[in-house]
Amino acid sequence: MDKIGSKGFMKLVFATNNQHKVEEIRKVVGNQFEIITLFEAGINIDIEEPHNTLHENASEKCAVIHRLTGLDVFSEDTGLEVEALNGEPGVKSARYAGEGRDFQANIDKLIHNLEGITNRKARFRTVISLLLGRQEYLFEGICNGQIIKEQKGLKGFGYDPVFVPDGSNKTFAEMSLDEKNVLSHRKKAVAQLLDFLSANAQNN
Ligand code: IMP
Repeated sequence: MDKIGSKGFMKLVFATNNQHKVEEIRKVVGNQFEIITLFEAGINIDIEEPHNTLHENASEKCAVIHRLTGLDVFSEDTGLEVEALNGEPGVKSARYAGEGRDFQANIDKLIHNLEGITNRKARFRTVISLLLGRQEYLFEGICNGQIIKEQKGLKGFGYDPVFVPDGSNKTFAEMSLDEKNVLSHRKKAVAQLLDFLSANAQNN
């Protein structure tokens, strides 16, 4: 496949099957680069996340998709790290309540495990891996906040209904995409990725 997309921008595959993440990231990227989803690249596989760190999982997703497409690729892995639970669910956030990756079951388990605990501090951490040719670059974004006791809001995905970011009194699930993108971990990591690409991509 060609490295320049049909719109004349540098083309990057985003190695995810999570449409929520695609929407969030496309909003941030705008027209600066052409982001191709796995679906659009004709790839229909569920990429494993078998490792104990966000970085290793993100790297693996890039390596798998680069092998299949030969294109430059980026991927991200995100975890919710809860202080009173020693950083859990962390890298296991998607499967906290089991292999079903059920958002509601994960929230229920989190609320249950925090019952009676007053320290509700948590943070989302996103690690982005970018593979340009054979060279990997890493970017990280963190959003600090609190886990509330009852879920609020219907937007977003995952733990959004129970996470109130610092600087707001709304959960991520009560925010529009634009509002979430002002504060979010993913936005912060993507902003670094874009800065890097703007400064360096032309040289590759
Ligand atoms: P992944 O392994 O990076 O796909 O994400 C792990 C899990 O973390 C997801 O299944 C979601 O439950 C959760 N997650 C990731 N990003 C977010 C977010 O922005 N808001 C809420 N939950 C998220």
